[in-house]
Amino acid sequence: MNNTFYITTPIYYVNSHPHIGHAYTSIATDVLTRFWKLFGADTYFLTGTDEHGQKIVESAAKSGIEPQEFVDQISQEFREMWPHLHIENDQFIRTTDPEHKACVQQILQKIFDQGEIYLKDYQGLYCVGCERFLDEAELEDGDCPDHQIPPESYKEQNYFFRMSSYQDWLVEELKHNESWVYPGRYRNELIQFLKAPLQDLCISRPKNRLDWGIDMPFDDKFVTYVWFDALLNYASALGWPEGEKFHKYWPHVHHIIGKDILKTHGIYWPCMLKAAGLPVFKKLVVHGHWIVGGSKMSKSLGNVVDPLAMKDHLGVDALRYFLLRDMSFGEDSNFTEELAITRYNGDLANNFGNLLNRSISMSRKNFEGCVPPLGEVGDLEKDIRNSFIKGVETCRENILAFQPHRALEHVAWLSSQVNKYIDSCKPWSLAKQPEERERLGTVLYTALDMARILVGLLGPVMPEKMCEARKALGLGAELILFEKLTPGVLVAGAELPEPKPLFQKIQVSFADETPEKAQVPEKTKTKQPEMGKEWLAFDDFQKMELKVGHIRSCRKLENSTRLLCSEVDLGEGHLRLIVSGAAEFYTPEEMTDRRVLVVANLKPIKLRGEISEGMILFSDDNGKLVLIDAPNKVKPGVTVH
Ligand code: MSP
Repeated sequence: MNNTFYITTPIYYVNSHPHIGHAYTSIATDVLTRFWKLFGADTYFLTGTDEHGQKIVESAAKSGIEPQEFVDQISQEFREMWPHLHIENDQFIRTTDPEHKACVQQILQKIFDQGEIYLKDYQGLYCVGCERFLDEAELEDGDCPDHQIPPESYKEQNYFFRMSSYQDWLVEELKHNESWVYPGRYRNELIQFLKAPLQDLCISRPKNRLDWGIDMPFDDKFVTYVWFDALLNYASALGWPEGEKFHKYWPHVHHIIGKDILKTHGIYWPCMLKAAGLPVFKKLVVHGHWIVGGSKMSKSLGNVVDPLAMKDHLGVDALRYFLLRDMSFGEDSNFTEELAITRYNGDLANNFGNLLNRSISMSRKNFEGCVPPLGEVGDLEKDIRNSFIKGVETCRENILAFQPHRALEHVAWLSSQVNKYIDSCKPWSLAKQPEERERLGTVLYTALDMARILVGLLGPVMPEKMCEARKALGLGAELILFEKLTPGVLVAGAELPEPKPLFQKIQVSFADETPEKAQVPEKTKTKQPEMGKEWLAFDDFQKMELKVGHIRSCRKLENSTRLLCSEVDLGEGHLRLIVSGAAEFYTPEEMTDRRVLVVANLKPIKLRGEISEGMILFSDDNGKLVLIDAPNKVKPGVTVH
């Protein structure tokens, strides 16, 4: 592994307040940086704000203040937001910083002197939202596809950068360097785009139309186009051309961006770097978008999610965990509070939190408040240790491959393996047999030791919570180094403070849906097919995950005469909570300990304040629900075809 990483977020436009999408990019960048540090790398993390251009001027005018005052305010909002989200950037750049302006002018002058910038009359279609001229071919029904409004038509004299002359070079770079743009489909998108002739780039705006920008050094009747100015922040921040940081970090630059700005980073930017005589970036890492309510977030739809409001509900670290765990890096993902809470309750409260709590509590109770000694190690311990040795490496590989969701999925799996190990070793029974004391110590030591490794792996994602977890394991607050994430490092006899639950289960506020209303899609409810029957495609059927579940406990839901709430074992190392409308037909006692069939991949829903994470299947005998039993010998979690 190369040991130096310069890692950047896009610099955010200050025309709107920070939202969950901006927060995601910055959190993902922060998490990757923290992991690299853990792997021993020397890192430098840059973020900042993009403050010039037409859309900023328009937003300032709407607020009735001067652009400078406006950008000062919103830039400050971004700067103050990041520490609240546990983001530790090394530098925050603003494109209105004098050093940045000087750098942009120097590079423009250099390229101008090389004869690669020229003046010409131009007519084009400008989208203020994108802050760029669009090609006719990019429009959808005459509208910008991203902003769904028609671009404005401008006819004016402007300066152009001879970007077209870099087309062949760029195509070759993209073809030969397969890992330059990640995930690969974005590289293909760029190659596809470059099949058409590349146009020269308009890099100025006449001051009589827009004067909020950096003066062109060779003609003060023009300001610099906002993207040409913004992209250069990555170099100006390090003190190009002579800065010490520039020499140290530039060759190792990794840009993390959203897919909306692929073209500017994948086409304009490398051509600009090449023209300026700078080595191009090491890697462009592209993530998808958070979608809210099925649509892109927008002020007009009123679906913009404020990260601080979400953090107040879930806690910062759990919000970071959810964002990284639930978005497959590179793809779009749906954001709902319910999914976030389900993830929190499932992975953090029930799985990992429970593991930590019960292993600490049992150790304290049986070993005078200390980490128990490790006795003879049996096959079960060898197996789990091996899973962890491989698991730590898998997580490292996933992080280095920009797949944080996979790394976290693996951590959750490892955690459930330890819970299963505890369940199968039954330390609560061992504790009742004095002759099993050594075995009890071995089981609890192993559980605590594995929990320690999980705490280490989760440290970059949940820095504050994992600091608390380290203290709970009697380890002190310092980060656990990656090389210590190996079994057997925990010191027996270390004092374990009284545990406080790290992740209290979130009970969701009251909702008046019923399972039937909420779980049957609207379409199915109203549609009566003519023949009384609609065929289900086999592929659609296969999408359903049917599993055998073991109901471990069941209770009536308060405020409801119809709903039962069961804790169901699906062999995942933690129990799922499932609400069913069967209270008129079964008592909780009759439900408990039954093997049942469960639809395991139904979208979680909130029912009377509980999040239901699946559906138990009943047959409906003229309105009377009858449980469909699975044979007792089938293990929980087994798939049903
Ligand atoms: N100022 C330019 C970037 C210049 S970089 C030299 C810009 N700014 S922006 O404020 O619009 O931020 C865009 C970035 O914010 C996206 O590329 C992405 O990183 C993040 N996101 C904005 N909305 C998002 C989602 N809905 N979901 C995930 N990330 C999103 O473009």
